[in-house]
Amino acid sequence: RPHLKTLRTLEAADYLLPGKNAPATVSTLAEAEAYANAGYTDLLYAVGIAPAKLARVAQLRQQGISLHILLDTPEQATAVVNFAQLHQQDFSVLIEIDSDDHRGGIKPDASQLVTIAAQLGSHFSGLMTHAGGSYGCSTPAALQTFAQQECDAIRKARQRLAEAGIDCPITSVGSTPTAHFGTDFNDISEVRAGVFTTFDLVMKNIGVCTMDDIAMSVVTTVIGYNKEKHWLLTDSGWMAVSRDRGTANQAVDYNYGQVCRLDGTVINGLTLTGTSQEHGVIELPQDYAVDDFAIGSQLRILPNHACATAAMHPVYHILKSDNSHEQWQRIIGW
Ligand SMILES: Cc1ncc(COP(=O)(O)O)c(C=O)c1O
Repeated sequence: RPHLKTLRTLEAADYLLPGKNAPATVSTLAEAEAYANAGYTDLLYAVGIAPAKLARVAQLRQQGISLHILLDTPEQATAVVNFAQLHQQDFSVLIEIDSDDHRGGIKPDASQLVTIAAQLGSHFSGLMTHAGGSYGCSTPAALQTFAQQECDAIRKARQRLAEAGIDCPITSVGSTPTAHFGTDFNDISEVRAGVFTTFDLVMKNIGVCTMDDIAMSVVTTVIGYNKEKHWLLTDSGWMAVSRDRGTANQAVDYNYGQVCRLDGTVINGLTLTGTSQEHGVIELPQDYAVDDFAIGSQLRILPNHACATAAMHPVYHILKSDNSHEQWQRIIGW
């Protein structure tokens, strides 16, 4: 069930999914609505549901979309059950399991798990977890252990539900690192990954991809120099690359991104060292002169976090393997 949130375009969904009925994950209802209107029928909205959004969920389900929602509190379950009764609406709800103490979810051994599933009754469809903590790993062994831990949390929760007589048709796990390093998904019904769509420097540092695998870059132009400081100034401030500093605590810190030549060749030692809203700063190492980079010349910046960088751009320029170009429009909003 690929996560479509990195590029959020209809064209990317077309690349990632084998067909319109293939399962996919989204992070906003705006995406769910756009993909549903384009004919996609099986979508997981993988962010905790707010009661005020149930009417939009119901609308999509009435259109025949198998839209699954997520929750991890009795309050949310009550809102779902009340809405369902009031409007004679069926829902498909996954309970979020916390497999790594990273963000939301219920611990697999928490008593609330069985209570919430029972409360949901026929609206309950299964369990979901996201091992976002796997981003802290940097060795294959640690990633494999993390992937195992992610699946084991779901297995444990499923076992507890089974003991309470509750069936669990959907078991959903995944992040890009655990999807790549997991070795046993046999009894898990679906795996989600998103940033693998283009990869990025964070994934390169974790060891999920190589620099060559990164398929997203921001083209930037040299717009000036600060010669005393030995700086290039570019038109790629954080409005172009985002403020994401995901590599700050990793083995290699790429600051605001790795600088490449326009043809994509990595320029070793050159990163986008600083950003203000519209300006980027490339602090040059001593072996480069500012005049090596002519005013008006173009460079490419590889992103720390592809999802954050993509979100700064309403349109992407797609360079295809036959050298033709396309423009893809991003689905925006919530
Ligand atoms: C619920 C959920 N599933 C899957 C993913 C995909 O993980 P990744 O971005 O590592 O591909 C995310 C990412 O944030 C997520 O929040």
